[in-house]
Amino acid sequence: MRNVQTADEAGAAVPPPSEGFQAWAQAWRERVDAALQAHFESVGTGLGQHSRLPEAIQYSLRIGGKRLRPMLVLESCVVCGGDWQRALPAALAIEMVHTFSLIHDDLPAMDDDDLRRGQPTNHKVYGEALAVLAGDFLMTHAISCLTRSEADAHVIGTLVRDLTCGTEHMILGQGADIEGEGRPVDADRVRYIHAHKTSALIETACRLGALCASADARQLEQLADYGRHLGLAFQITDDLLDETGTEQNLGKRVHKDANVAKQTYPAAFGLDASRQAARVEIDAAVAALEMFGARAARLRDLARFVVTRDR
Ligand code: IPE
Ligand code: IPE
Ligand code: MG
Ligand code: MG
Ligand code: MG
Repeated sequence: MRNVQTADEAGAAVPPPSEGFQAWAQAWRERVDAALQAHFESVGTGLGQHSRLPEAIQYSLRIGGKRLRPMLVLESCVVCGGDWQRALPAALAIEMVHTFSLIHDDLPAMDDDDLRRGQPTNHKVYGEALAVLAGDFLMTHAISCLTRSEADAHVIGTLVRDLTCGTEHMILGQGADIEGEGRPVDADRVRYIHAHKTSALIETACRLGALCASADARQLEQLADYGRHLGLAFQITDDLLDETGTEQNLGKRVHKDANVAKQTYPAAFGLDASRQAARVEIDAAVAALEMFGARAARLRDLARFVVTRDR
């Protein structure tokens, strides 16, 4: 994950992440990837027979991704004084939901994309029917992962409630995004889309981590606030990168949004105002971390990464 946006492009207000951030992020990614692999090895033939569905289910998870949401679960848990291993089931669960959302997002009936995470999209490899089913399975399996975690029943109930709520918001946002295509740009709709299709799940990631650490109400509230603002900045940047980024860095096609007249931040407000809006959200995200002091240094770095990233 490199950061190449210059101070002129990004504005001096957001410095790049501090030294050691890349190694820190890579270490979390490796833990998440190892846990995903161990999980699917342990599930084994439980994924079924007589079709390529087990392969399709694992394909989009295996081909990579930044693992931003599981990283947020694990780091939020640590920041609240918890043991990250206890948050692993929630970290895997949210990556499964996110990957389900990407598989369906890429379908011909939605964004009709053929490249994701630098590889052919799920339906290009396995066909539309299996891609739909792989997404359905990952969504459901995410919940079963949570229910099988070692947390106590009350905590599991709260985790499931939060994850399903975040997922419902994501799906509602996707509905507003799809039905917004080709219509005159509407700033209110853009804000709704961003808050729902992306920010809700990123907020949920922070909440899940805090809950796994038995955080108090104020810690939970502040981390949720951080995640909400971070999620808005993340989607504004995703919209910007569709216009200004490269296929090679992003691992997905670019210039897709304008082609189908998507309701994006740059379409509604222009590139400069969008960059400014992303900076405002990042400042708000960082401000929400104040009570955690130095312990939240990496979450601050992650916020800076989100708006200075090129991938
Ligand atoms: C892409 O998310 C979809 C959006 C919500 C914008 P990411 O950019 O986090 O995708 P991966 O997980 O790194 O592939
Ligand atoms: C998708 O937003 C957000 C999801 C819930 C998957 P986009 O359609 O902009 O995501 P990309 O650009 O295809 O990754
Ligand atoms: Mg989309
Ligand atoms: Mg898309
Ligand atoms: Mg996009």
